[in-house]
Parts: sequence; structure tokens; C-alpha cells
Amino acid sequence: MGSLTVRNLSEEVKKRLRLRAAANGRSMEEEIRLLLAAGAAEAPLAARASAPPSKPAPSEAAARQVLLIIGGGIAAYKSLDLIRRLRERAVAVRVVMTRAAQEFVTPMAVGALAGERAFTDLFDPASEFDVGHIRLARDNDLIIVAPATADLMAKMANGHADDLASAVLLATDRPVLIAPAMNPRMWLNAATRRNFARLVADGVLTVGPNAGEMAESGEAGTGRMAEPLEIVAAAEALLGATEEKPLAGKRIVITAGPTHEAIDPVRYIANRSSGKQGYAIARAAAAAGAEVTLVSGPVTLPDPPGVKTVRIESARDMLRAVKAALPADIGVFAAAVADWRVAQAGEQKLKKDGSGPPRLALTENPDILATISKLKQQRPRLVIGFAAETEKVVEHAKAKLKRKGCDWILANDVSAEGGAMGGDDNAVHLITATKGEPKVESWPSQSKDGVARRLVARIATELGGS
Ligand code: CTP
Repeated sequence: MGSLTVRNLSEEVKKRLRLRAAANGRSMEEEIRLLLAAGAAEAPLAARASAPPSKPAPSEAAARQVLLIIGGGIAAYKSLDLIRRLRERAVAVRVVMTRAAQEFVTPMAVGALAGERAFTDLFDPASEFDVGHIRLARDNDLIIVAPATADLMAKMANGHADDLASAVLLATDRPVLIAPAMNPRMWLNAATRRNFARLVADGVLTVGPNAGEMAESGEAGTGRMAEPLEIVAAAEALLGATEEKPLAGKRIVITAGPTHEAIDPVRYIANRSSGKQGYAIARAAAAAGAEVTLVSGPVTLPDPPGVKTVRIESARDMLRAVKAALPADIGVFAAAVADWRVAQAGEQKLKKDGSGPPRLALTENPDILATISKLKQQRPRLVIGFAAETEKVVEHAKAKLKRKGCDWILANDVSAEGGAMGGDDNAVHLITATKGEPKVESWPSQSKDGVARRLVARIATELGGS
């Protein structure tokens, strides 16, 4: 309505409005809205009584708004599906397209799916008049850049603002989620690595890229844009309360943290696990609507809200607690279980008695992941393990998947250089063997929350969720 009113005004009035908006540091639309509101407040009572109620319907007021920026890559076609998926979830979508994006999908198709026209030009007077790039940057709860091309990422990392998309990204104070998509060599290029690291350090959130076949024939590697549902899951987690709960009605049991194996009442065998990855998965699963039991070794993290947390010490306690949490649809075994325990833990503190260090006879702990994977009854439909490796990460993880009999394994590098143990970030390879030969997907280094959200989205897809 606002835009119609403005277009019908004389040039002189438009000019005065423009000057007034600039003087007040507002966009044109904001200025006009304020003027109209002030005018309506002063209007005679009779007119106000007959006017329709101005308060928006509750659903309208509560609507979540996303600004989707479509970059110019072949993956732009997936953004059409992304718009549809977001709108299905009652998320309002406004779209900005770069010039290159319009070579892959048309503003017409985008506008039809979004329910309003796509914005394309920084210097288009009509767009600036209607909304303005500052409002585009701010009037939303989240900005998604999908596909985030190498060029768009470079612009973002370096603070360019020479087109509508980059100007909006520079002007925003909203969270930004990027879904990179490009040729694998471009993704591996040192400049892209630098730009990506810069963006992550600047607080930009990421989803993908995935590994696999590229649209260009004969090309494979990391660079495929995350699937629309993965982007939606990441967006929903950022938007807070999800209306759609893709794991609603599903039970999931998750192990996390180290175990402590007593040597005597004061000493124990342990490892450096912080529990952060398992806790992040528990939070993401709960946000997706699952009924979550988290069986946790000794860590310093608080119980995640909405999650049943069972605190244990030893591997044997952990196995008991996991079995007690069955039946479950999904098992995720992220704990760094101590492989061995002392066969006979001392009942009293071991003393130095002058005969040298004590000899500790070790015995093997139960393998919780393998035990649950091989259950004849009550085996969860999807059993997911982790593989903590310091070398030949994928090779060892594939062997572990077979040996333990689980369906998926997330392999991570826990060497000192890998930094996953105790750190906040994690670079994992997802190895899936649900259908035939194991397939490997290498996910880029991202926060443990990012890994968790992505895993939960994958689980939801696997179990036929939305
Ligand atoms: N795991 C488990 N119980 C154990 C040992 C491991 O449930 N007693 C699970 C872990 O939670 C993880 C997976 O098995 O999901 C692999 O753990 P990892 O420490 O990488 O492998 P190990 O079985 O200990 O093998 P290795 O030490 O030879 O690498």
C-alpha cells in the first residue's frame, strides 16, 4: 500500500519526503509510515471508529522474517526450493538477487515463490523508495546467503558494498548464515580459505558445503551447496522456537564426555574429552523436538534444557544408563569412553610403600557402541558412532564402522593439530553405510553446534522427517 501511495505523489512531494527522511536518518518507507501514523492519530474520531483494526493478526505479528540473498552459482536453482521450504514453515522470505544470480534463476520465478518481488538493484529508485537497503538489512531475523559464491564471500570478508547484496550484508546487524557453493578447486583455493576463515572469525554462521558430485560433469569434491532442508534446519535453530519439529515423537539416546575409571578412591584414568560435541547434539536434537536422554561422563557443562541428563562416572555405568534409556529410535555415541579400567581398583588410597610404583593390571571396558549396534532386540533404528583418530582418519573410521556394526560414523581428527578435543570447533567426515558401500562426506571445520545441527538435519531426513 505504501509504495502505491508514494508512486502517486508528485515529484515535488517525493523530493521533500526524501530530504525529510535523509534529515531524520530514516528510510523513505519508515518516514512515510511515521507520517501516516501521526496523521491517523490526529484524524477525527468518527473516521477512526470506522477504520479497520490496525493490529496485525497474531500469526502475522509473530511471523519470522528471513532475507535470502541468492548469489550467482548453478546451485541458485536449489534456492527456489529453499524459499518454498521456508515458507512452508511460516517463515516470511524476502529475496535479494545478485546480478549473476539472475543468469541462473529469474527474479520472476523467485518473486512468485517468495510472494513478493525480488530486489536486485542498489540504484533502483523504486526499490530504494519502497524499502531501501538499510531496511532490507535490518527488517529481518536472519539473513541467509545461498548460494554463497566465492566472489560473494570475498566481498563479505573484505567489506565491499558495490551492489545491493554486499551493501545489505555490510549494513546488517542481524545474524548471517552462509551456504557456500562453488567448484572444489575454488573452495580449496588459499584466497577462499582465508575469506572463509575471516567470515567465521567475524561471527558469520555456515552450513555446508558438502562433498560429492558437482553440477559440472566430471567434477567432484567439496563445494556442493548444503541441501535446502539442511539450510532450513540451521536457519530454524538460529530463529529459535521451531514450529516444525522434524524429530518430534522420536527418542534419542546420546553419550558424551569422558569416563573416569577408578584406580583407587582418589585417582582415576580419564581423557581430555570436554563433552561439548555430545551436549551440542543433545541441544540440537531437543530443539528438533526429540525426546532426549543424555548419558554424560564427568564434565563441567550444565544440563541442557529440555533434556534428561544422566550423570555417570565409569564405562560400565554408562552402558547401564544407555540400556535403561532404550527403546530409542536413534543412538549417538559421542563419549570418549576409556577403553581400559584397572582390574582391581584399590579400596583405599594406594600408598608409596618403598617397593616402587604399583603395577596396575588393566582389563577392557565394555564397548558401548558395539554392544548397542549388535543388540538383537531394542537396537535403535539408527546407530551413530564417533571415531577419534590421530592419523589416517577416514581409513580407520571406515574400519571402525564395520567392526562396531553401527550405521554411521563421524570421524574426527583428535591429533594435537586437529584441536577437536576440548576445542569449540570440529572438522568431521560423515561415513554412512546404511545402503551398501560406505560413503564419505567431509564437512568443513565449523562450530560443534554447527556439526550438531547438521547431524540432526541429516538424521531427520534419514528417518523420513520433514
Ligand atoms: N566407544 C564406546 N565404548 C567404548 C569405546 C568406544 O561406546 N568402550 C564408542 C565411542 O563413543 C565412539 C566409538 O566407539 O562412538 C569409537 O571410539 P574411539 O575411541 O574412536 O575408538 P575405540 O573403540 O576406542 O578404538 P581405538 O582406541 O582403537 O581407536
